[in-house]
Amino acid sequence: MALTMSTNQALLDAQLELWHNTFGYIKSMALKSALDLRIADAIHSHGGGATLPQIGAAVKLHPSKIPCLRRLMRVLAASGILSAQSPSGGAEPVYALTPVSRLLVGSQNLAPFTAMILDPAFVSPFLELGTWFQNELPEPCVFKHTHGRTLWEHASRDATFDALVNDSMVSDSHFIMDIAIKECPGAFQGISFLVDVGGGLGAAAQAISKAFPGVKCSVLDLDHVVAKAPSGTGVQYIAGDMFESVPPADAIFFKWVLHDWGKEDCVKILKNCKKAIPPREDGGKVIIIDIVVEDGSSNSKHTETQALFDLYMTLVNGMERDEQEWKSIFFQAGFSDYKISPVLGARSIIEVYP
Ligand SMILES: C[S@@+](CC[C@H](N)C(=O)[O-])C[C@H]1O[C@@H](n2cnc3c(N)ncnc32)[C@H](O)[C@@H]1O
Repeated sequence: MALTMSTNQALLDAQLELWHNTFGYIKSMALKSALDLRIADAIHSHGGGATLPQIGAAVKLHPSKIPCLRRLMRVLAASGILSAQSPSGGAEPVYALTPVSRLLVGSQNLAPFTAMILDPAFVSPFLELGTWFQNELPEPCVFKHTHGRTLWEHASRDATFDALVNDSMVSDSHFIMDIAIKECPGAFQGISFLVDVGGGLGAAAQAISKAFPGVKCSVLDLDHVVAKAPSGTGVQYIAGDMFESVPPADAIFFKWVLHDWGKEDCVKILKNCKKAIPPREDGGKVIIIDIVVEDGSSNSKHTETQALFDLYMTLVNGMERDEQEWKSIFFQAGFSDYKISPVLGARSIIEVYP
């Protein structure tokens, strides 16, 4: 009897775990609805806490949908995006921002990055991941498998999609560069001239040049990205292809670029960097912001998020790498030493020396 009960309990626990994983995408879609409806903004403009009718009115919900909104709010509260406090006396619960949803409001927020990841153009390829696994590498990547062209080709031909990508990258740069500069200032000190390769609209380069006025910063990116670069930022924009050449500098910076590419491509890009910088004793280096997986963290959310990010990078035939994989790329490209500073949450700053 006791054995049957524990067997049944184990089966039900397993079923719960299976359901939890199966319905995981509903969490993502609840977050997407919250972004589409600007629920965090509505709560923020109510002073950080609002009732269902207040949120419903602010996001222009049809009154018939107020009971449905309660269900969305329950998922958002259960997943930590919002908190729900029920005042005594049966009054309406008050939904408040949490540290997570505070990252979706204000001028330096991660809503554009979150919106890009949850956009149908980025979500739909993963519905076909199983069939993608049956093709031989390297082509097509998961994005091309669905859309018929690579993400970069698509961005060069579709201005709305391009803006989605570029704005999302700007929002990430606003968020992470402040932290990078505070946590690892030594990485940027003593540099006279830095080129941010694949630097998008230049938000990271702008942050570096603002924090270190002695560092002259340039951005190298593809024609169609540079064409939309802002003016008057103090950053110079250069249209080019990092597979052909990289402009000369003391330091080359890459944020979220090398994880987009396979090993051979990374070696090729880094060989071009080595040609562009002086020897180590004259200050030459490459600075990379990317994930280093299996970095010894005991936080299971950290490890799981890194694993999710790695699988996500099949989108462009990229990958997240462990230290040995990074080291092998650096040494094959002719670099002699490197230093990893795991100071950016799931990501690290890696300094690579010629
Ligand atoms: C994931 S985004 C990262 C943007 C920026 N580094 C950031 O983190 O905000 C990758 C960038 O690489 C650029 N890129 C792709 N192929 C490139 C190439 N062959 N040469 C230069 N840049 C390229 C893209 O246009 C895009 O801006």
